[in-house]
Amino acid sequence: MVAATAAVLLVLLSACDPAEQGTTVTDDSGLPGLPHDTHSYAQPEKARVTNVSLDLTPDFATKKITGTARLAITRAQGADSVILDTRDLTIRSVKDATGVPLGFGLCAGTGKDFMGVRLAVALPATGDTIVIEYETSPNAAAVQWLSPEQTAGRKMPFLFTQGQAILTRTWVPTQDGPGIRQTYDATVHVPAGMRAVMSAENTSKDGEKDASGLSVFRYRMSNPIPPYLIALAAGDIAFRPIGTRTGVYGEPSVVEKAASEFAEVDKMIEAAEKLFGPYRWGRYDILVLPPAFPYGGMENPTLTFATPTILAGDRSLVSLVAHELAHSWSGNLVTNATWNDFWLNEGFTVYLESRIMEELRGKKYADMLRQLGRQDMNSAVTDAGGPTGADTRLHLDLTGRDPDEGTTQIAYEKGAAFLETVESVVGRERLDKFLREYFDHFAFKPMSSERMLAYMKQNLLTPEEVSRINVQAWIYEPGIPSNIPAVTSEAFTAVEKQADAWKAGGAASAIATKDWSTQEWQHFLRLLPDTISQARMAELDRTFKLSSSGNSEVLFAWLRKVIANRYEAGFPALEKFLTSQGRRKFVAPLYTDLAKTDWGKKMALDIYRRARPTYHSVSVGTIDKALGLTPQ
Ligand code: BES
Ligand code: ZN
Repeated sequence: MVAATAAVLLVLLSACDPAEQGTTVTDDSGLPGLPHDTHSYAQPEKARVTNVSLDLTPDFATKKITGTARLAITRAQGADSVILDTRDLTIRSVKDATGVPLGFGLCAGTGKDFMGVRLAVALPATGDTIVIEYETSPNAAAVQWLSPEQTAGRKMPFLFTQGQAILTRTWVPTQDGPGIRQTYDATVHVPAGMRAVMSAENTSKDGEKDASGLSVFRYRMSNPIPPYLIALAAGDIAFRPIGTRTGVYGEPSVVEKAASEFAEVDKMIEAAEKLFGPYRWGRYDILVLPPAFPYGGMENPTLTFATPTILAGDRSLVSLVAHELAHSWSGNLVTNATWNDFWLNEGFTVYLESRIMEELRGKKYADMLRQLGRQDMNSAVTDAGGPTGADTRLHLDLTGRDPDEGTTQIAYEKGAAFLETVESVVGRERLDKFLREYFDHFAFKPMSSERMLAYMKQNLLTPEEVSRINVQAWIYEPGIPSNIPAVTSEAFTAVEKQADAWKAGGAASAIATKDWSTQEWQHFLRLLPDTISQARMAELDRTFKLSSSGNSEVLFAWLRKVIANRYEAGFPALEKFLTSQGRRKFVAPLYTDLAKTDWGKKMALDIYRRARPTYHSVSVGTIDKALGLTPQ
């Protein structure tokens, strides 16, 4: 701590008092105000970060990012301090714009590790800028450092960040709540030969080097965004254009394949713009990460981060791109104000995703996606303790819990089903018009369930429709309301017939799988009984080469059966899958399935011991829990 005067100390001590709770100001729209965010220590109504200007140098040897964050602050009259969120950061100094040191202190937090600690800074008497010199920890939860062996090229190390939900505070000292929007710019220094990419417009000067010979990359995001969308990746990264405003970044050996896999991206943007209004972010590029990336995709603005496990070779998994693109409206334009309303981001996005895919591939295809979604929703209800489980509600109360616990398929699929229910009552024309107005009216603004609903009642639904939809039950009560519209898929009905025939003893070779899409395969595999004889497992494997499937979704669905039936011929494929990629959606359920039996638990622990160091912290957190390696 900087030697502080008694007055400054008093300021800092009072800044360490817990923030008062309650809803913030209402505006003149007559809509309800926004709720307090319990997952940030910030008190934005007193002093708020409006721009973050970063100058960062990642050090791949020490796994630390060192640099400065220059924050622009606006403050209410009389506010003499600002509270930031930090976690595992070393703060070297805090100064004003002229270099005069400012008093600062790290205040004890709530005891919840995921919250980190408050950084209170005494504001300068004049000026609105504070400059923080800091360093990240090698364990920063947002940052994954990959050794060259963990990349496709095996030559250079790689680094990427993942901010959502509250991990940005582990690499950027700022106010880390989704309701506190900030513009940002960054200068990043990386070893010569590397490229740094960010979720912003590239303003780099070609070939720029700094005094120590490091390559310099510059980025600027001039739309205010929630801080969880600040993102960085660096490594041996090449680029291939797709259209005039689209392209693919990735390791040199994957960009070609990725550009062909994602060739439809321009059509997706056109479809989305037609349905939901203008794309407001300039370029839309996709960064294909090394296989350790823990998510399928992450909607970082202008630059979606994606797992390489969607490169199936036949464009069968690109609805993920439609999903991340759709967040350019639902999530990135209109953002959940707190993580209790995560469904406003994800549920809306799943609905938009299916509408985009319907434009591109037709209703038959979109209905398959919708049905798989419904299956996921039903499993999530079971996982959450059945239809009365508190976490089956769309609007959650995650106070005191890691917001990661709210990221279930309830938010995604029950959320989408809510909009499908609204659609079934008001029709597409009215719903689409409403959605366009909603995105336009609240562009670059935070949103809550209550506020969205009030706006919907003002601008879309009659009182009679409100009760017919039963919005109250959909948003605030557990379980799935009975007026959920049925999704029927002709394609899946045909698959069900084939599965029934096989279950009745028919031969695998008699199943007409020739033109099956990935989604039909997923449906078929999910329909198989939990208990299958070794001979029948072997027959399926031999006939359809399932253990060597190059499609990650098909392989995943098959490997669940491999585990359920202790089908040993599938074990090498299982081990390879668990050790060659770290996508949480795939690895966590497989370890969880294994942990159900003694033999499986042993195998899980053995594989995990080797794989754990290659996984991202978010996957590690979930699997540690599943295998009972952390106190529950
Ligand atoms: N925003 C999410 C990923 C996310 C959610 C990261 C919560 C951290 C916390 C992203 O848009 C997403 O939903 N990804 C899905 C794929 C999608 C097609 C459903 C995923 O990663 O599986
Ligand atoms: Zn999403």
